[in-house]
Amino acid sequence: MIDKVEIVNAIANIEDPDLKKSLIELNAIKDVTIENSSVKIYLELVQPVFTVYEEITRRINDAITQIYSDIEVEVNITERMYDLSKRKVLKKVKNIVAVASGKGGVGKSSVAANLAAAFSLTGARVGVLDGDVYGPSQPTMFGLSEQPFEVVEMPDGTTMAFPLEKYGIKVASMGMILQKNEAAIVRGPLLAGYFSMLFEQIEWGELDYLIFDLPPGTGDVQLTLTQKIPLTGAVIVTTPQEIAVADVRRSIAMFRKVNVEILGVVENMSYFIPPDDPNKKYYIFGEGGGRKVSEELNVDFLGEIPFEILTRESNDSGMPVVLREDAGTQRQVFLNLAHKINTKIRLRNFKILQLPVMKISLE
Ligand SMILES: Nc1ncnc2c1ncn2[C@@H]1O[C@H](COP(=O)(O)OP(=O)(O)OP(=O)(O)O)[C@@H](O)[C@H]1O
Ligand SMILES: [Mg+2]
Repeated sequence: MIDKVEIVNAIANIEDPDLKKSLIELNAIKDVTIENSSVKIYLELVQPVFTVYEEITRRINDAITQIYSDIEVEVNITERMYDLSKRKVLKKVKNIVAVASGKGGVGKSSVAANLAAAFSLTGARVGVLDGDVYGPSQPTMFGLSEQPFEVVEMPDGTTMAFPLEKYGIKVASMGMILQKNEAAIVRGPLLAGYFSMLFEQIEWGELDYLIFDLPPGTGDVQLTLTQKIPLTGAVIVTTPQEIAVADVRRSIAMFRKVNVEILGVVENMSYFIPPDDPNKKYYIFGEGGGRKVSEELNVDFLGEIPFEILTRESNDSGMPVVLREDAGTQRQVFLNLAHKINTKIRLRNFKILQLPVMKISLE
């Protein structure tokens, strides 16, 4: 006979890998049902669980099969999320991550595309928004640049825009909605106002993550956008050069000014891996800049992304490198990055869930 209490005891002290608290402490065990030789565990965990789902399921399986060897275990996880209904925009998008940099050309769009793809590989519903009006990259990174964007006129006279879709990921670009001549006229603060209007007009549907590829820089447009959009947090992309430090500092200051959490700094183009000798690393732009600046500015360092020919080729050919099964190292680098960012997102969501209801309007 399988004993329910024994099952609960066996799994009670299993920790949520991100929150480092036990299932009992988290009040996560909602139900346990037993039928013949199978047991079903119902958990409720802090959203988003995609990146930890496998790990938790494995830990539960191990714990239960240690006491009952011949048993079938099924783990069902529902997600716990704070109330998003008070938001003005993007009420159906659970987590919005801005990928930003003070400087252009550091690989923001490449990181944003791969991050989106990495999250999507875990089974999450993901969208990418390219905020660059003048030179959108996401349609190219997803091989969608030739496709027209669907804009539908609604009965009340407003227009709704529907993102394109590739590899199960939704992709939209501000440039796709703004007519070419409009983009040239609307600049600066005006453009930012325009953006927030556009935000209400893009129909993303339900999303677990929206990755926002922010235009480079820390000017009015970026500041207004970060204020108007309910960002979960920001990932700052930099290169190892000494000179990039000042830009990172400016980016971080901008987000802190509007109380957006810095999820961390990621260093791109850290070293070059020659394709004919993948065990070698050449630190072309110097070593350790991203880590140093993170320590200096007291933010998490999320990791180094090597400079690789395959990544550049993938970006150009319309398939983020993380989706390519032949991309060993680079694939793992982005999966690890997504995992680390997800840990930070879950810690933040957990913190908000614990706040008294009155204070939930933090974002
Ligand atoms: N790790 C990498 N390895 C190889 N090529 C890379 C890597 N990261 C980015 N690139 C390439 O470098 C160029 C610039 O990258 P990307 O467009 O992502 O930068 P960005 O910061 O978004 O630029 P912008 O400021 O213009 O928006 C692209 O051609 C891209 O494919
Ligand atoms: Mg870009």
